[in-house]
Amino acid sequence: MRAAVFGGGYVTVILLISILESQAVDLLRGTGTSQNPLSAPKVHCRCSSYPNVTLCTWPKPPHFPTTHYIATYSERHNQASTEECHLLPPGSSSSEQFWICQLPNLKLLTDYIINITAVHSGRSSSHLTNFMLEDIVKPDPPVDVRVSPTNNRKLLVEWAPPPTWTNMVIFPLKYQILYQWENKGTRRSVRLGPYENTKVELKGLPAGRPYLFQVCARELLGLGKCSDWSIPVKITIPRKRL
Ligand SMILES: *[C@@H]1O[C@H](CO)[C@@H](O)[C@H](O)[C@H]1NC(C)=O
Ligand SMILES: *[C@@H]1O[C@H](CO)[C@@H](O)[C@H](O)[C@H]1NC(C)=O
Repeated sequence: MRAAVFGGGYVTVILLISILESQAVDLLRGTGTSQNPLSAPKVHCRCSSYPNVTLCTWPKPPHFPTTHYIATYSERHNQASTEECHLLPPGSSSSEQFWICQLPNLKLLTDYIINITAVHSGRSSSHLTNFMLEDIVKPDPPVDVRVSPTNNRKLLVEWAPPPTWTNMVIFPLKYQILYQWENKGTRRSVRLGPYENTKVELKGLPAGRPYLFQVCARELLGLGKCSDWSIPVKITIPRKRL
C-alpha cells in the first residue's frame, strides 16, 4: 500500500490488493481534493446467463449526480483488446439507482480487467477489477415456487427456472431448497439438495406449523454462486388428512 500527498490538498491513494489464491486483483485509484473526494465507483459484476449476459453495476453517487463514466474492459493478457462497455445510466432500465454496463460476448475461461472511471468537473477516479466469467456466474432466482400438501402427508415443492437464464439446454441448472420455521422464538432452517429436477416431494415435516420455502439456482457444474433465494412461500401442513 502506498500513499503520496502532494500540495494543494490533493491526495492520491493507490491501493493494490492481490489475492493470489483466487488470482483476483482489485486495484483502486482515487484522485480528488481531500475536502471533497470523488470516490471510485464500487463495481459489482455478475453473469446472470452463462455465457453471454454479463453486467457490471455501481450505485449512482448521491453527491455528484452529474458524474459521468468511462467504462472499458480488456483481456488481462492482451491489453490491445480494450473495448468500451455499453453504458446504461440510472433510470434508463429497470434500475433507478444504479449505473449498468453491459459486456457482451466475453470469451470463456479468460481473465478480464474492467476499468470504470468516474469523471466530474475535471477530476477522475478509476476502479479496476478483474474477473473470469466462470467465477461471477450467478443466476437470477427461480420463479413460480409452489408448495402444496399431497394427500399422503407429503409436501410437493415445485418451481420454474429463472427465465433470464437462456441456455438451459447447454448449461442446465441445479437447485437447492431452504425451508425455515420458528420453534419457541428461534428460527430453524434446513437446506436440501442439490436437485436437477424442478420438483421435489418432501416427507416427515410435522403438521400444524408454518414453514417458509425458498429455492436457489446454480449452474449444474457448480460455476459461480447459487442465485439469491426466491421470494418466500408460506405453507402450513394441515393436521388432518386431506
Ligand atoms: C445468449 O445466447 C442465447 C442462446 O444462444 C440466445 O438465445 C440469447 O438471445 C443470447 N443473449 C444475448 C444477450 O446475446
Ligand atoms: C482507466 O480508464 C481511464 C479513462 O479511460 C484511463 O485514463 C486510465 O489510464 C485507465 N487505467 C488503466 C490502469 O488502464
